[in-house]
Amino acid sequence: MRILVTGGTGFIGSETVVELIKNGYEAVIVDNLSNSKEAVVDRIETITGVKPVFYQADCCDYAAFEEVFKKEKIDAVIHFAGLKAVGESVHKPVEYYSNNLISTCNLLKLMKKYGVHNIVFSSSATVYGVPKHVPLYETDPVESATNPYGETKVMIERILEDACKADKELNAALLRYFNPIGAHPSGLLGEDPNGIPNNLMPYITQVAIGKLDHLRVYGDTYPTPDGTGIRDYIHVVDLAKGHVATIKKLLSNPGLVVYNLGTGKGTSVLEMVKAFEEATGVHIPYTIEGIRAGDVAENYANCDKAYKELGWKAELTVLDACRDAYNFQKKNPNGI
Ligand code: NAD
Ligand code: WQD
Repeated sequence: MRILVTGGTGFIGSETVVELIKNGYEAVIVDNLSNSKEAVVDRIETITGVKPVFYQADCCDYAAFEEVFKKEKIDAVIHFAGLKAVGESVHKPVEYYSNNLISTCNLLKLMKKYGVHNIVFSSSATVYGVPKHVPLYETDPVESATNPYGETKVMIERILEDACKADKELNAALLRYFNPIGAHPSGLLGEDPNGIPNNLMPYITQVAIGKLDHLRVYGDTYPTPDGTGIRDYIHVVDLAKGHVATIKKLLSNPGLVVYNLGTGKGTSVLEMVKAFEEATGVHIPYTIEGIRAGDVAENYANCDKAYKELGWKAELTVLDACRDAYNFQKKNPNGI
């Protein structure tokens, strides 16, 4: 069975390609390399012994994207390709809307034209907006997002819902990821952000190797036990396995399905700092700063539905993720 993986050289996509290959699938990657490197393809080969087929193409370029569908017989698609930086999306909204929406519409047109009926979409916990309660359930309302990036996820979920209503043969899984962290245990694949990281874990790992001076903790006056923000951090290897389980589910012809992919457990910023120190033995100095605009106090998932219907649940801990993220950062101090 051949799976098209858009954005397959990125952080989550590359890990998912490894899991697909380990489970006997063939993977075909399409990526424009706007936020990843071609060297990832060789690293996937080093880990799995199989070199996935790779096309450098932009999913917004319909003609270039169609070449892939002409050459490869595709059974299902996992659609990771997209721009994902929340802050950047506020400054470049048009780039975010056009990249994320046009790529998805092109993909859906090509799937229809070439008779491909299964798609897994990388959605996000951001579609729940500011949580009114935790944990979050798939049945909670999808809110208007607070930034253009999040709004693209809300819109694409809607597009996929409508596409499934109109085409009874189409199966779509909306996977709402919580906070993916960690890296492949080999240290060959991991998160490779440009410039100063926005997200907590890559910031901590860069402090750990001395690239950044200290962590800035955004706020310690939230209504949480230690006052710092709580999130549901999921190891990227667990997340990747969730995609393989979802592909199997789609083959049972379920139409539209929605799953939270998280751990069901919240970790505060200061708990994460402690966990990192415990897992690596490296001290992380920090200062307490004001809260970051747009942040919420607490956000974590209920993941019972994924366990019940996919047989999937997160197995790795935050300690595992800290160890693997640090290993990756040490081996790749300047990224891949
Ligand atoms: P990433 O940036 O590492 O991977 C995305 C990949 O898509 C990159 O390799 C990039 O080059 C490629 N890409 C972007 N636009 C493209 C286009 N038009 N055509 C072809 N390739 C294109 O990001 P990631 O963390 O692996 O995220 C993957 C997906 O998961 C994204 O859709 C993201 O929004 C979603 N997601 C990520 C997180 C997270 O915290 N990392 C959380 C929730 C959802
Ligand atoms: C986690 C916690 C920060 C950095 C973002 C997107 C979300 C999703 C995942 C795509 C918060 C604190 C962080 C730092 C800190 N992506 N923090 N110092 O904001 O939960 O989610 O990534 O869909 O849409 O918004 O993740 O890792 O940025 O922050 O104190 O230098 O760490 O305030 O409490 P976030 P994050």
